[in-house]
Amino acid sequence: MSTPTRDDIPSTGECYDLIRRHRMLPNIIAHSEQVMRVALAIADNLERDAAVDRSLVTAAALLHDITKTRSLETRERHDETGAALLRELGYPRVALIVEQHVIFTGFLPDGPVEEREIVYYADKRVMHERIVSLEERVRDLRERYGKSPEIMELINTNRDFVLGLERKLGGAMRVPLETAIAALPTVPPAGEPEDPR
Ligand SMILES: [Fe+2]
Repeated sequence: MSTPTRDDIPSTGECYDLIRRHRMLPNIIAHSEQVMRVALAIADNLERDAAVDRSLVTAAALLHDITKTRSLETRERHDETGAALLRELGYPRVALIVEQHVIFTGFLPDGPVEEREIVYYADKRVMHERIVSLEERVRDLRERYGKSPEIMELINTNRDFVLGLERKLGGAMRVPLETAIAALPTVPPAGEPEDPR
């Protein structure tokens, strides 16, 4: 499969070069690969009129946690620093998605499906390396962080947003969202995925 190379989106090989260069921890690589699989299961099952760039979804999913490994020490905001890094490298479209994978702004429930929505949602369905339901993910957040009523409130507001996002994505798909995700292999294939272009 070959489509023209666009300079503003890194190929899968270029993503893995970055992953290596930034010494991503193996478990964070595995998480990112799983997010990519879920994101592509959604992107590949959208109605035909959806204008979603598959290579952009792939690159953003693989790179969304590109600075997370070093953030464990530096305590930097990895959504912000990951985006800054990718902007510097000349990938502004990927940067925008990375910037929005923790705090999403400007959600349009009735607008066209966007790549940043797919990556954000897929990330919420993958806990560590495992595909989970939203309920399971929310339960985990409540247990780990829900130490005050304010944080509980934040978690609940965010859950409502993700449910709205899920409705939007599901409504734009040719098959039920859960069917697309359930069709993914339970044991992920080893090695770097083929370049989707
Ligand atoms: Fe992240």
